[in-house]
Formats: sequence, C-alpha cells, structure tokens
Amino acid sequence: EKVGFIFDLDGVIVDTAKYHYLAWRKLANELGFEFTHEQNELFKGVSRKRCLEILLDIGGIEATQAQFDTWMVEKNVDYLAYIEKMDASEILPDVLRVLEYLKNKNVPIALGSASKNAKPILEKVGLLHYFDSIVDGNNVMKAKPDPEVFLIAADNLGVGPQSCVVFEDAVAGIQAANAAGMVSIGIGDSDILNEAKHNFKDFTEMDNQFLELLLNKNK
Ligand code: G6P
Ligand code: MG
Repeated sequence: EKVGFIFDLDGVIVDTAKYHYLAWRKLANELGFEFTHEQNELFKGVSRKRCLEILLDIGGIEATQAQFDTWMVEKNVDYLAYIEKMDASEILPDVLRVLEYLKNKNVPIALGSASKNAKPILEKVGLLHYFDSIVDGNNVMKAKPDPEVFLIAADNLGVGPQSCVVFEDAVAGIQAANAAGMVSIGIGDSDILNEAKHNFKDFTEMDNQFLELLLNKNK
C-alpha cells in the first residue's frame, strides 16, 4: 500500500505559536495577569476552548458563559489580525523542500490540525495546493491526543492508518499519531517529544534519504 503523509500546521509548517501567544497574552493582561512563554507551551496542539479554560485557571478567574464566549471571540479577532499579515516568508525552513519532494513522488498529503484557521493560513502562505485533504478544528469532535483528526485524514487520503506518517510539534499530537497506529515524527525538542518514533529539530535536519525510507516503508 502507498504511504500517506500528514502534517500538523502550527509549529510544523508555520510558526504561528508566537501569534497565538501574543493574542492570549493581550487577553490575560486585560484581565489583569501575566501569561508567560513557558505557560504558552501548554497551549500547543490544544483547542481554542481548552486554551481559554487553562488561561482562566492561570489567572484564577471564574467566567460566566457569556464572558467566556466573548473572550473566545476576542482572542480570535486579535489572532486573525496577526495572520492577516502572514506571507510565504513565514513558512518554516525546508518545509517547501519536503512538500515538493513528496509532491513530485505523487504521495498523498493531508493536513491534520486542531486550528479552525488552518485553511486561511495555508492560503496566505501559498501552500494550500499541496494538500489533498485538510482536516482541522472544524471537522473533529475530539481533540488531540485523541487520534480522530489523523484517522479522518487517513480515510480522506484512502490510506490505512498503519501506512501514514505524521509530522508533529506537540506532545498531544505525537500521542494522537501513536494512538492512531501511525509513524510519529517529532519536529522540535526531542526531550519534550520523547514519545515520537523519530525526532528532528526541524526539517533542515531531515534529508531526502530519510523521506525515501518513509516512502518505501511498506515495500
Ligand atoms: C493549534 C495550536 C494551538 C491552538 C489550536 C486552535 O493546535 O497549536 O495553540 O490553540 O490550534 O487554533 P485556532 O486557530 O482554532 O484558535
Ligand atoms: Mg502544532
């Protein structure tokens, strides 16, 4: 069977974590408390709703449902203002090389992201056409570490889960890929992503020979 490739978005294809951080920090400051870079680590791969729950916990704030909904919208409006200005220069190093390599081999490629803003971001940076399927926060019921997002992506690609390779920068994402029975590849700090099958600091460390190994893993 052919091998399918699934990419996470934030932190794998583009570094949007910094914009999520700025938008959450602005909200925290308005509510009267600080939100640090270290705390932002907990937000990677986590849904918007869950992020706000954690943020309010950090600030010790009890919200009414109406306030909660307002702050969800406010954060996203601020985040959208940041991504509005994004362009191809924000694609992370060597992502384009890897996508091109796979595309030239006619490999099925999907996006598997928790974000509800995935499509506009891919459009902004000019990468939308590389993806045969986009599965994002609008399509899933259960958040990572649940494997749902990746299982839907595999299904859309017409490839069995055991024939899929997943690139992820979040612990919850690696766990989701493992739970789906896929080959998990950590992009980032190998100490943090120690549950991944393979680890790379970023795509510059991943040569075409390794991609070829993945492509032929079923042969
Ligand atoms: C990604 C990011 C998270 C973010 C989530 C939802 O998984 O890593 O930090 O909270 O997407 O993003 P959204 O764009 O829907 O608010
Ligand atoms: Mg991510």
